[in-house]
Amino acid sequence: MSVYKTDVLIIGTGIAGLSTAIQLAIRRPDLKISLVSKSVKEETNTRYAQGGIAAVWDLGEDDSSKHIADTKDAGDDLCDPQIVDIVVNEGPERVRELIEWGTRFDKDQKNEYDLAMEGGHSEKRILHYRDLTGAEIERALLEKCVGYKNITILEHYYAIDVITQHHLGYTVTRVMNDIQCYGVYLLNLQNLMVETHLAKLIVLATGGAGQIYKATTNPTISTGDGIAMMYRAKGHVENMEFVQFHPTSLFNPKGENPSFLISEAVRGFGGILKTRDGKEFMHKYDDRLSLAPRDIVARAIDSEMKARGEDYVSLDCRHLDPQAFAAHFPTIYHKCLSIGIDPMQEMIPVVPACHYFCGGIKVDANGHTNIQNLYACGESTSTGLHGANRLASNSLLEGAVFAHRIAQDIVSTIDRIELKPGIPEWDARGTTDPKEMVLITQSIKELKEIMSYYVGIVRSNVRLKRAMDRLQLLYMETEELYNNTTLSPQLCELRNLITNGYLVTRSASIRKESRGLHFTTDFPDKHAFTQGTLL
Ligand code: FAD
Ligand code: SIN
Repeated sequence: MSVYKTDVLIIGTGIAGLSTAIQLAIRRPDLKISLVSKSVKEETNTRYAQGGIAAVWDLGEDDSSKHIADTKDAGDDLCDPQIVDIVVNEGPERVRELIEWGTRFDKDQKNEYDLAMEGGHSEKRILHYRDLTGAEIERALLEKCVGYKNITILEHYYAIDVITQHHLGYTVTRVMNDIQCYGVYLLNLQNLMVETHLAKLIVLATGGAGQIYKATTNPTISTGDGIAMMYRAKGHVENMEFVQFHPTSLFNPKGENPSFLISEAVRGFGGILKTRDGKEFMHKYDDRLSLAPRDIVARAIDSEMKARGEDYVSLDCRHLDPQAFAAHFPTIYHKCLSIGIDPMQEMIPVVPACHYFCGGIKVDANGHTNIQNLYACGESTSTGLHGANRLASNSLLEGAVFAHRIAQDIVSTIDRIELKPGIPEWDARGTTDPKEMVLITQSIKELKEIMSYYVGIVRSNVRLKRAMDRLQLLYMETEELYNNTTLSPQLCELRNLITNGYLVTRSASIRKESRGLHFTTDFPDKHAFTQGTLL
């Protein structure tokens, strides 16, 4: 019998999952808390974060109304004002906690936090640790977890599906309001056996889905598993058309997955976008030039590259102080040197790459999904904070704020919840080992091609229709494979990638306007338009 029981099961060990676990362990040392990672626990988007975490810190210059206005402006009138207020106002307290828990942020010569500037921010408010902020936060959170005996971390466990009434043989539909979650089926990657993990409350903190595109800054774990699991369980998912392309990933002709990010903080530090022949172009697109919000800068770069038939634009840092540059951005500096570019002598070749999912699992202000006993936190969610485009460095903040709110909510409800008896174990009858892994790897390549060419920065009805037709075929082939083949993480990820690709394409097809990160040549203007939950 491979059935395991816990009080709270959290899938994901990035800032969202780890913070939820710590906030809970502080409040309830009696609860058994299990954290799950499909890879090693450190391998998360969180650890790749460079620029930092946004919070109103210097009250002399900044105040929450400015951070609220910047967030809404970036979000292009689609942010939920209540959620923006919550995150901006609770954010500084959560950042103070990160510091108390051991996170280091850079300070200046006066021993005050060195606040950086990024695109779309009207004030300097980004706390950072060199260009390694995420790795520093991840380190501190993991070390903090070790201090709690009631937290267990399961590495190399792959969450396949959340368990609902569907697994008890009942029909579950997306319009039902009493779907319940009882736990998660986890594939143990050491022995490829599926285990049943039951819990009173479950939190999905599985991050984004950047891997649906060929070029992405997201690590290979970012396959949108939580979003796909939620959609399969008939949960509510929204705003999937708002995929953020970061304007500046390092152009590497050899190609690498993930693409290496050149932080927006480099532009905040004075880096200027230019064409390959050294001419500035951002004045044609926005008064804020290289520091306009990301959707505007990424589209501007895309447009320049297409007009000029070039593979990249350039980021000019040659006028900046070399010592200060290397001290602020050691990782970026050394990465450039490693591919033969000295940023102090040559312009850095940059190109947009998929970076962040603003949409995802729909949650309320306390992280509840529409499925009972199931919360979601972090990049896998759509909280309403980002609207049509996320403001730089608001993601780590959102994860920390919602983790705290979810933990508080769990504390107030968990004692009324019992584990569900009678859950069947995973049924693998009728499946055989995959004979040709190439079927899976080739389908992943096809999916990335489809999404990159037809559902990228600029969209149109024709491209979206093409994408949908091709995705349909991939979906049918993959479902057949899934139904007949023993489970492997590669197959599960392929399935989830296709679901995410479908959700982005369908959401994009429904939105008959251009707004924030969604731009379509068929509807180039912004209209009053409401898009509901995806059915
Ligand atoms: P993640 O940190 O991605 O963690 C996901 C976790 O879920 C992992 O532990 C993974 O193993 C687990 N998981 C996923 N699927 C499964 C499964 N099926 N089974 C088991 N486990 C699973 N944001 C900012 O605010 N500031 C920045 O400076 C910044 N810089 C960034 C730079 C880069 C290069 C990237 C890629 C992102 C950056 N972001 C930044 C965005 C930010 O890092 C992420 O949005 C955020 O870290 C997401 O945190 P998370 O906890 O939701 O998910
Ligand atoms: C960056 O450093 O440019 C990334 C910041 C973010 O994604 O918020």
